[in-house]
Amino acid sequence: MDRLIIDGGVALSGRVLVSGSKNAALPILIATLLTDDPCLVENCPTALRDIRTTARLLESLGKKVDIEGSSVRVLSTGSLKTQAPYDIVKQMRASVLAAGPLLARFGLVRVPIPGGCAIGLRPIDIHLKGFEAMGARRIADQGDIILSAPKLKAAEIRLRFPSVGATENLMMAAAAVPGRTVIRNAAREPEIADLGAFLERLGAKVSGAGTAAVTVEGQPRLRGARHRVMPDRIEAGTYLIAAAAARGKVRVQGARGGDLEAVLAALRRTGAKVRSGRDFIELEMRERPKPVAVSTAPYPGFPTDLQAPWMALMTLSTGFTKVRETVFENRFMHAAELTRMGAQIAVSGAAAVVAGVERLSGAPIMASDLRAGAALIVAALAARGRTVLQRVYHVDRGYEAVERKLAALGARVERAR
Ligand code: EPZ
Repeated sequence: MDRLIIDGGVALSGRVLVSGSKNAALPILIATLLTDDPCLVENCPTALRDIRTTARLLESLGKKVDIEGSSVRVLSTGSLKTQAPYDIVKQMRASVLAAGPLLARFGLVRVPIPGGCAIGLRPIDIHLKGFEAMGARRIADQGDIILSAPKLKAAEIRLRFPSVGATENLMMAAAAVPGRTVIRNAAREPEIADLGAFLERLGAKVSGAGTAAVTVEGQPRLRGARHRVMPDRIEAGTYLIAAAAARGKVRVQGARGGDLEAVLAALRRTGAKVRSGRDFIELEMRERPKPVAVSTAPYPGFPTDLQAPWMALMTLSTGFTKVRETVFENRFMHAAELTRMGAQIAVSGAAAVVAGVERLSGAPIMASDLRAGAALIVAALAARGRTVLQRVYHVDRGYEAVERKLAALGARVERAR
C-alpha cells in the first residue's frame, strides 16, 4: 500500500493548479442518468478514485463512459438499470445520488443504504423524506431501500437540515418531473450551483441554486449537454492552509476566492497575506500563525472539509484555539495522529482545544479518512524531520497527484509503493 514520505520544514513557494471539483463532478456525472443523449463533462478530476468509482457506477447502470484526460463522455447503450450494486455503494456513499434521477425517470429504484463511515453515521433520511414529499413510497429490503412512484410529482419540500446530498438528489429528481418543485432550507454550497447550471443545460429550468430556496421546473425529456466543472475549493483551501503552516508564498491557480470567503477571512486573521483575483488565490506567510477559532457550518460557513487541515495549522499557532465541528459527529480522528507529531489537542465532544506549539516533529502516522489525511500532510510539511504517512489511498480519493503538486511548491515529498 502506498505511503507518502515527507521531509518537512521547507518553506513552500511557487504555483499549483487546482483540479476540477470532486464534489461537483460526482453529482454532475450522476445527473447524466437523466438523459439518453451524450454528455461531455470537462475539468473532471479523473485521477481520483471516486470519479473512477462513479464511472463504474454509471456503467453498471447501463451507460458507457469514456475518460480522456480530464474529460468524461457519457453515452447511452440502451435501457438503464434501476438497481445500484452494493459493492459500488459501499465504496462510495455518493452513489446514493443515483436514486433521484432513476426514480424520476423510471418510477422505481433500488439502492443499498450506505452505512456510516469514519466521520459519522451519515443517514439518508432527508433524501428519503424529500422523495416521499414528491409522492414516492419506500420499503426497506435486505439492506436496500426500494423507492417507487408510478408518477413522481412536483412538490414543495422543506429540509430539516441543509444536506448537500439531499439537495442534489432532489434537484435531480425534480429536473425530470414536470411542474415546479421548490426545495427550502436547501444547501447553498457552490457545488449545488454548479449542478443547477448542468441541469439547466439538460433543459430543466432552475433558479436559486446556491441559495436556501431552489426552484426546479422539470421536463419529461432532457437533452444531452456539455459542461465544465467548477474548480475544487477544498483542494485549493488545503494548499493555502499548507502554505500558511509551512510558510512561504504560493499561488493557487484556477481557484475562485468567492467560493472560499470564510476560509480566506480566517487565514487573514492568522497573519497571512491573502490576495485573490478572478482565477487565482495567493497566500504569503512569514510568521507563526495567530490563533483563530473556527466552527464548521453549512456554506457560507467554514467548511467541515477544511476543519482537519485547519486544526493542523492551529497546532502551530501562538496561543490557544477552539475548533468546533457541527456538521459531522465524529470528524476529529486526525487529532490523535497530530498528537503523535507533538501537537497539543484536547477533544471533548464536538470541540477541540488546541494549544499551539513552536514545532511539530515528523513521525510515522496514518490517515483515517480523506481530510484527516490532508491535515496530516499539512502538519508533515511544517514539521521538522521525516514523516511517513500510511493509508494514502484516503488522500487519493480527493487530491489529484498530491505529491506532484506539493513538489511543484518545493516540498520534499515522495510516494513509496
Ligand atoms: C457532502 O456530503 C460532501 N460530499 C462531503 O465531502 C462534505 O463533507 C459534506 O457534503 C458537507 O459539506 C460530496 O459532495 C460527495 P450532507 P453529504 O448530506 O452530501 C447529516 C469530502 O471530504 N445528514 O450535507 O453526504 C449527515 O449525517 C466529503 O469531500 C442527515 O442526518 O453531506 C451529516 O452530519 C466528505 N440525514 C450532515 O447532515 C441526511 O439525509 C451533512 O451531510 C443527510 C445528511
